[in-house]
Amino acid sequence: MSRPIQLAIIGDVHRQFDPHDVMQFNRSDYDLLLCTGDLANMWHREGLVAARQMARLQKPTLIIPGNHDTLTLPQLVAEIKQWPRLRRWLAWGQGQRLRRWQRALGSVQVGGYSVHLVPGDEDVAMVVGRPFAMGGSVLHCQPQLKRQFGIGTMAESAARLCQLIEQTSQQKLIFLAHNGPTGLGSTRKSIWGNDFHPDEGDFGDSDLREAIDFAQTHGKTVLTVVAGHMHHHVKREGNRTWHLVADGIHYLNAARVPRIFEENGRTVHHHIRLTIDDNSVTVSEQLCQGNDF
Ligand SMILES: [Fe+2]
Ligand SMILES: [Fe+2]
Repeated sequence: MSRPIQLAIIGDVHRQFDPHDVMQFNRSDYDLLLCTGDLANMWHREGLVAARQMARLQKPTLIIPGNHDTLTLPQLVAEIKQWPRLRRWLAWGQGQRLRRWQRALGSVQVGGYSVHLVPGDEDVAMVVGRPFAMGGSVLHCQPQLKRQFGIGTMAESAARLCQLIEQTSQQKLIFLAHNGPTGLGSTRKSIWGNDFHPDEGDFGDSDLREAIDFAQTHGKTVLTVVAGHMHHHVKREGNRTWHLVADGIHYLNAARVPRIFEENGRTVHHHIRLTIDDNSVTVSEQLCQGNDF
């Protein structure tokens, strides 16, 4: 590698991506922008508005659809409640909504069970996990996953990710997912811990864990795992861990929601800077205003 690679990680957007973000990212030194998804809050059209804004980015950008992307509100509720028949019925039309969403994103690449190269670094591959993940190791949006990828179970999802890794010639990997993996804590303030159930628990995804472990046992170097979904503010009070290093891997939960907020009387825009220099990874939270990207 000739020089360090600079990546910007934009966490769950939830409608907050504005012309200031576009201008600052376009002017920045980033080689690649990654987004953990959830462009919308509750309504599909909100996601289209944010997607059109992102389409104005002139940097290579890669996004994974979150559980708020291309679902209708009733479908989202049916997925949360795990109502089997309604989940199937309400998934009708998701393929069409996904195509509109992709069109609105323009040249932003939409990943899912896919491998992408990092611009300027032939040694590193980006592995993008399962779209529409909602945590708890449940295969959400199964009808759409089946239609789009032929994935019908969590075991098939894990197997597909492992197959992708096996076929990837790059030795160094970065994972991008909407929700993070299991195995990183089971309290409500854990990086992907459950903060909405009194028993708390690990709300990570087992297929992603399986893929990461597979990569490591097959001689790959997993530099970083980037995801979101479990927002930083936890229910009742406090914030969860958003960055930890385990077994040599940097895990980043980028879901600072809202990502644009007021602090000390100024409006700040959140993202994370990830610098890769050979095998060394540097992570820093960025709270930017004005020209300070
Ligand atoms: Fe989410
Ligand atoms: Fe979210």
